[in-house]
Amino acid sequence: MSQHLTAIYDTRVSEGLLRADPAQREVLHRFESLRETLEARPKSGLLARFFQEKPQSGQHSRGFYVWGGVGRGKSMIMDLFFAHTAINGKRRVHFHAFMQEIQSALHEARKTGTDDALKPVAEAISKDLRLLCFDEMQITDITDAMIVGRLFEALFKAGVSIVTTSNRPPKDLYKDGLNRQLFVPFITLLEQELEVIEMQSPTDYRQDRLSGETTYFTPITAATRQSLDKIWHDLTHGQEEPLDLEIKGRHVVIPHYWAGMARADFWELCGKPLGAGDYLALTGAVKLLMLENVPRLGIDNFNEAKRFVTLIDALYEAGIRVILSADDVPEHLYAEGTGSFEFERTASRLREMQSADWGQ
Ligand SMILES: Nc1ncnc2c1ncn2[C@@H]1O[C@H](COP(=O)(O)OP(=O)(O)OP(=O)(O)O)[C@@H](O)[C@H]1O
Ligand SMILES: [Mg+2]
Repeated sequence: MSQHLTAIYDTRVSEGLLRADPAQREVLHRFESLRETLEARPKSGLLARFFQEKPQSGQHSRGFYVWGGVGRGKSMIMDLFFAHTAINGKRRVHFHAFMQEIQSALHEARKTGTDDALKPVAEAISKDLRLLCFDEMQITDITDAMIVGRLFEALFKAGVSIVTTSNRPPKDLYKDGLNRQLFVPFITLLEQELEVIEMQSPTDYRQDRLSGETTYFTPITAATRQSLDKIWHDLTHGQEEPLDLEIKGRHVVIPHYWAGMARADFWELCGKPLGAGDYLALTGAVKLLMLENVPRLGIDNFNEAKRFVTLIDALYEAGIRVILSADDVPEHLYAEGTGSFEFERTASRLREMQSADWGQ
């Protein structure tokens, strides 16, 4: 008999890795029944098919929709559930990345001249899949909004359990979006099939973990590199994956990403021909960016400086938390050259973004 999820949580608390939070524990408590159902269900063969296609309604939900403010521990709790659900056919994926995958698969399927590309794509995705955990469900794109309904219907029909985290309740998804009336049935479907839970924790743990921490490191030394490694490890618990952002058919890959947090080198983001659209896509997908090795900029790297200004503006507008290492203090990063006057605003924004109460 495996250990109850709340017992695993309690152990982490007693080891000092987590702070006890009744709201988080309650969510795990509710996840436990889904875990037990999944683990008890036969894994393959005809019997499994029978069970999967005829879930006994009312006995258990097809999953959970956990929503709440930033840093409340939704992703962390979902990861704990995911890691400790011992079944084959489970998958955890960033919602945005998943939708990109679906859109490319649809694109491929349409090339074969099929009338209804979504059906084969949904079938292929559902094959051998029993649990799908989505981090950060948000719908901003009309092409996504128009297909999620049928996609999720197919997933539920195939017996896939879904767990998702979001900053909004289902009724506020795709709020004010174009053709929203066509999207509303998806909200109804989510509310019917998933248990909607508000994570009511009072604490923004991300803020908490960073409060009192330096978030602007200068100059860059072996010690500051170590500090950044430590902060990153502390925030992600050593987990990471690449984040592939697709912007109008182009791919921008952020090599280090976990649960809404990205880590990149200055040259990865400002040394390549990226533009405002790319930075907006980034700020749409993350809540925290660790940007390393910002050099002192000058006339020789005017383009890099310009991109840095655009990046900081995008981060600032979106209220993203930034941890940064740089060769100098903000005011001296771009002291002369064309646009140095405009850089004063960037410097001032960088200062403001270091304040303890900065962020969404
Ligand atoms: N009870 C806790 N004690 C200590 N740290 C915690 C606790 N809960 C979460 N954290 C940490 O706080 C940070 C934020 O948690 P997490 O990413 O799970 O929040 P979230 O609710 O998913 O936020 P968002 O809505 O921004 O995605 C993570 O580094 C996580 O490990
Ligand atoms: Mg999260």
